[in-house]
Amino acid sequence: MRLIVWTLAIVVTGTTVASTAPSAARRMAADSTSEARNRMAKIMLDSLGDRATLPAESIWANLKTGLAKVPARNLIAIMNMGFGKSLGVTCEFCHVAGHFDKEDSTQKQIAREMFKMVPRINQELLAAIPGIQNKNPIVNCTTCHRGRVKPALSLDDPGSN
Ligand code: HEC
Ligand code: HEC
Repeated sequence: MRLIVWTLAIVVTGTTVASTAPSAARRMAADSTSEARNRMAKIMLDSLGDRATLPAESIWANLKTGLAKVPARNLIAIMNMGFGKSLGVTCEFCHVAGHFDKEDSTQKQIAREMFKMVPRINQELLAAIPGIQNKNPIVNCTTCHRGRVKPALSLDDPGSN
C-alpha cells in the first residue's frame, strides 16, 4: 500500500515540473524531452493492449524493485512522469529503446538505487523527525531533481543536465 501511495505521489508531483521551469529556453528543452518520452510511452502502452492492468512483472522480466507489482500501465506512467520528467530526460537516458530489460546503463542502475533510497528517506529518516506538520512527509525524485539530472546545491543554481 505504501508503495502504491508513493508511486502515485511521484506521478502526480512529476506533472508540475514543466510549468514551473523558469526560462523559455529551458521550457523548450523540457518540452522536447517530454514529446519524445510521451511518444515512447504511448508506443509501450499501445503494445500492452488489454494486458495494461496486469502486474508489471507478468509483462517484463527484469524488475528488481517494488515496481514489479504495480499494474503495467502504471509502470509506464512512473517511467515517463516519475523518472523521466523529474530528471528532464528521455527514456534513452536510462535505456536502449526496445531493450528495456538491459542492465548495461549505469544511469538505470543508479535510478534503481535512488528508487530504493527514497522510501528509506521517507520511512526511516523523515518519519523519525518529531513535530513535522504533515503526518506523512515525503520526498520523491522531483523534490531533489526538479527537472534536472544534477540537483542544485544553491538557489542561484537551477541544477544541470
Ligand atoms: C532515470 C532512469 C529511467 C528512465 C528515464 C526510464 N526508465 Fe525505465 N527503468 C528504469 C529502471 C531503474 C528500471 C528497473 C526497475 C526495477 O528493477 O524494478 C526500468 C524498467 C523499465 C521497464 C521494464 C523492463 C524489463 O524488461 O524488466 C520498462 C518496460 C521501462 N523501464 C520502460 C521505460 C520507458 C518507456 C521510459 C520512458 C517513457 C523509461 N523506462 C524511462 C529506469 C528508467
Ligand atoms: C534526496 C535527493 C534525491 C532524491 C530524492 C533523488 N535523487 Fe537522484 N540524485 C541525487 C543526487 C545528489 C545525485 C548526484 C548528482 C551529481 O552528479 O552530483 C543524483 C543522481 C541521480 C542519477 C544519476 C545522474 C547521472 O547521470 O549522474 C539518476 C539517474 C537519479 N539520480 C535518479 C533518481 C530517481 C529516478 C529518483 C527517484 C526515484 C531520484 N534520483 C531521487 C539526489 C536525489
